[in-house]
Amino acid sequence: MTHNITHHKPHIWARALSWLANPKGLNNLDKLRNAVEGKHILLTGASFGIGEATAYRLANAGAILFLVARSSDKLQQVVAKIRAGGGQAYAYSADLSKPEQAKALIETMLAEHHYVDILINNAGKSIRRSIMMSENRFQDFERTMAINYLGPVQLVLALLPSMRARKQGHIINISTWGVRMPPGARWAAYQASKGAFDIWLRSVALEIKAQGIDTTSIYPAIVYTRMSAPTPWMHLLPGMTTDEAAHVIERAIVDKPIDIIPPFLRPGEVTSVLFPAPIRKGMQLVFKYSKDSEASIKSAQKGL
Ligand SMILES: NC(=O)c1ccc[n+]([C@@H]2O[C@H](COP(=O)([O-])OP(=O)(O)OC[C@H]3O[C@@H](n4cnc5c(N)ncnc54)[C@H](OP(=O)(O)O)[C@@H]3O)[C@@H](O)[C@H]2O)c1
Repeated sequence: MTHNITHHKPHIWARALSWLANPKGLNNLDKLRNAVEGKHILLTGASFGIGEATAYRLANAGAILFLVARSSDKLQQVVAKIRAGGGQAYAYSADLSKPEQAKALIETMLAEHHYVDILINNAGKSIRRSIMMSENRFQDFERTMAINYLGPVQLVLALLPSMRARKQGHIINISTWGVRMPPGARWAAYQASKGAFDIWLRSVALEIKAQGIDTTSIYPAIVYTRMSAPTPWMHLLPGMTTDEAAHVIERAIVDKPIDIIPPFLRPGEVTSVLFPAPIRKGMQLVFKYSKDSEASIKSAQKGL
């Protein structure tokens, strides 16, 4: 099964710089099969984008997948495709930003399948909107915290007891490069909420490693999906297709590193520590000469 569901074709020069901008993946079905065949994998955000591509790849390698998202029809389509190709997948439609739905999902899934070997925390919501346009939009901050921070915390808390009892487990978080760099203008809601879970998991990782539970935080830059599509300039920059992003998750599963970062990130972090003032000035200029996206303005006007 190959399913390339990339939305936009990136520019040639963007593809040429891909080696610098994107974390390295692993495209090796045999190694993946060794790591996941018969394993129970809970994958959130499996209806679109990175999660959908990852679901097909893991199913091909023989994993038993529990797929979560809100769009129940789309999730059923993903499951149907996987089953048609001989794979094993189960759809659990839930809004992870709603604690009662996340609780019900975990209870049902554990009652039906007993344990999870690998949790891939991928579901997420991005908002890029200036603070001036957000002054009457407290909901932007509530909803990003609910899905990018509190929902994943609830899932991990619910899964830790059975992982600890089995002395094994792997929690993979799809974070974002932005949380490792100084904050960018217009990204307050997204970066704060992604940063909250990133820090939470890195702290928890120190405690659970000795109990046999691994964690991997992945820091992608740009992935060409419906999430990045409303900000058109993102598709001019070097990014990954959803299949390439799935290969990065594949590397996380096979090698279990503590993190996976794009090559530019470490020099970027060092530069931001050594030269904070010019970086801040540069960020202010970027803000001055850029705009809120049409999509962001329209959804704010409609009160969405
Ligand atoms: N795209 C990028 O450039 C980029 C860069 C760095 C990191 N990331 C991270 O990568 C992850 C996947 O993003 P993507 O680009 O693949 O985005 P996407 O195509 O918009 O997919 C997001 C997924 O999350 C699910 N989701 C959203 N809200 C949910 C909720 N309340 N409850 C349950 N599921 C929910 C969506 O399904 P439903 O709508 O059906 O619920 C969808 O399956 C995110 O965590 C994102 O922060 C993306």
